[in-house]
This record gives sequence, C-alpha cells and structure tokens, in this order.
Amino acid sequence: MRTFSLSRDQARHKSSLLSEYTENLGMAMMRRKSMLALKAARLEAEMSLKARTEFVASMSHELRTPLNAIIGFSDMLRNRPMNDPQQVQEYAGYINDAARHLLELINQVLDISKVHAGRMELSPALLQINDMVNHAVQLMQPRVAEKGLTLHCRLADDMPEICADETRLRQVLLNLLSNAVKFTPEGGEISVLTEWREQQRMACIEVRDTGTGMTPQEVARAREPFEQIHDQLNKKHEGTGLGLPISIALVELHGGNLEIESAKGRGTTVRVLLPVGNCGKSPANGPTAAGDGHGADGGA
Ligand SMILES: Nc1ncnc2c1ncn2[C@@H]1O[C@H](COP(=O)(O)OP(=O)(O)OP(=O)(O)O)[C@@H](O)[C@H]1O
Ligand SMILES: [Mg+2]
Repeated sequence: MRTFSLSRDQARHKSSLLSEYTENLGMAMMRRKSMLALKAARLEAEMSLKARTEFVASMSHELRTPLNAIIGFSDMLRNRPMNDPQQVQEYAGYINDAARHLLELINQVLDISKVHAGRMELSPALLQINDMVNHAVQLMQPRVAEKGLTLHCRLADDMPEICADETRLRQVLLNLLSNAVKFTPEGGEISVLTEWREQQRMACIEVRDTGTGMTPQEVARAREPFEQIHDQLNKKHEGTGLGLPISIALVELHGGNLEIESAKGRGTTVRVLLPVGNCGKSPANGPTAAGDGHGADGGA
C-alpha cells in the first residue's frame, strides 16, 4: 500500500484552497437564493397585478349593466311624456331592481375585500342552527315555488347550540340555497339537512340539489372570486360569482370548512361544517358543552 504525507506548506495550501472553495460555494448559494427570492417576489407581484386587472375588468362589467339600465329608464321617464301610470311604474320598477342589484354587488365586493384584508369581524353568539335553517328555507320558498322545484328539509333533533355570527351564517346559507335554486332546472329537488357529528364535534348543514352539477375542475374554479361556470355568454343566470367565495371565507372565519361535492349533470352537495364553540361561556350540559375555544369564539 502506498502512503502519502503532505508537507506543512502543502497542507496549509490545501486548507486555504478548501476554505476558498467553501466560501465561493457559500456565495454562489446565497446568490442563487436571492435570485430565487427575487423571482418569487416578481411572480407574486405579476399575479396580484393580474388578479387586480381581472377584478377591475369584472367589476366594470358588473357595474355598467345596472347603471346603464338606471340611466336608460330614468332618461325615458324624464324626456318622454308618460301618460300611462302603469308604464311609469314599470320603468320605476326596473330602476329599483337595478339599484338594488348594484347595492348587493357593492356589499359583496366590500365583504370580499374585508375578508382579504383580514378585516371581517364576526359577532358570535349562541344560536340554534335548526331555527336559522328554517328561517332561511322560508325566505327561499317563493323562489323555489316560482321555479317549480321541491324543497325537503330534514333537521336533526340533537343539534347543539353553536357559537357563531347569525347574520353571517344566514348569508352563507342563503347564498348556498340561492345557488341550488339557480342551477337546478324546473322539476328538480333541493334538500337541506342538519346533522350533529359527535366524533368530529362539528355541526353540519348540507344543501343538496339535483341540478346542473360541475366537474372537479369547475368546482375548483367556482371557489374563486368572479368565476362563473354556467351561461356566462348569454347571462342566463344572475350573479357575479362572489357568493361562493364569500361563503367559504365566512365559514373558515368561524373555524369551519365548506366542502363541495358535485357531479356534472347530476347535482351538487355543499356541506358547511362548523365547530361548536361556547362563546366564552363555561361548559354546560349536553353537546352545547363542546366548546373548544376554537373558531368563532374569538371573533375575527
Ligand atoms: N349548486 C350549484 N350547482 C351548479 N353550479 C353551481 C352551484 N353553486 C355554484 N355553482 C357554480 O359556481 C359559480 C360561482 O358561484 P357563486 O355563488 O360564487 O356565483 P353566482 O351564484 O354566479 O353569483 P352570486 O352568488 O355572486 O350572485 C356559479 O356561477 C355556478 O356556475
Ligand atoms: Mg351564488
């Protein structure tokens, strides 16, 4: 076997070479790291610019339609002699509809901006889910009947009180019910169910429909702001594509989850899962005591 030994000079030279390599390697890695960070920052900026541009484009389109109706009909009322009171009423009705639509749109945009800015505040209190569901279902009944749909309601009798912001949860439920009505053709069925999931300690509200349904890719798109899957060209369905993303954000603010299961042509099931929470009260009896200090208790 051959052995090598280095002189002291050679050893010193070798160690200085090694430290030079290490230093160079370190610098190269640092350069690469900062290049990557720069690239990521640029990508993020480009993406938010794209999102902002798309947002402004969608907003302009959505604002223009009702504004044009308001201007057009009010111009007619102002410039034309109107002898027929029924026609005056009809035009005033169009103006009113368009203005209400604008108000709703602006409220939705404010909601989604607040959520994105982390400024959405909840006012949680103990509430009976079944009562809230019953109320929302009653509000939707006229639209369900008008469209020739059937609505079934099956509410579990062991539902606990949950700690949540009632107004915001009602908004979620009305969004989901209005989607079920909008995207279910005449003769279809809508079911609303509540269920207490003891193991997960979650309250579940489910809205099922037998409507148009979506593919998994469409479901992913529908969860994003301003995305509408159906009839975008002829605008057969009203809306702006904000209801679902706002609902998702509101449920998540409560510490819950909004799940969507859908099959193209067969229907959609949306499930809202909410932690019980106890609104800061000390545990009482029964499932109400399930407060885990998580979710809505703390507000937003
Ligand atoms: N139950 C459903 N069945 C089939 N498609 C649905 C259903 N719910 C939502 N979608 C699809 O997802 C899209 C986004 O839903 P979202 O509620 O955000 O918007 P929208 O109902 O069109 O308008 P908005 O709720 O703002 O009035 C809808 O336009 C529709 O294409
Ligand atoms: Mg909607």
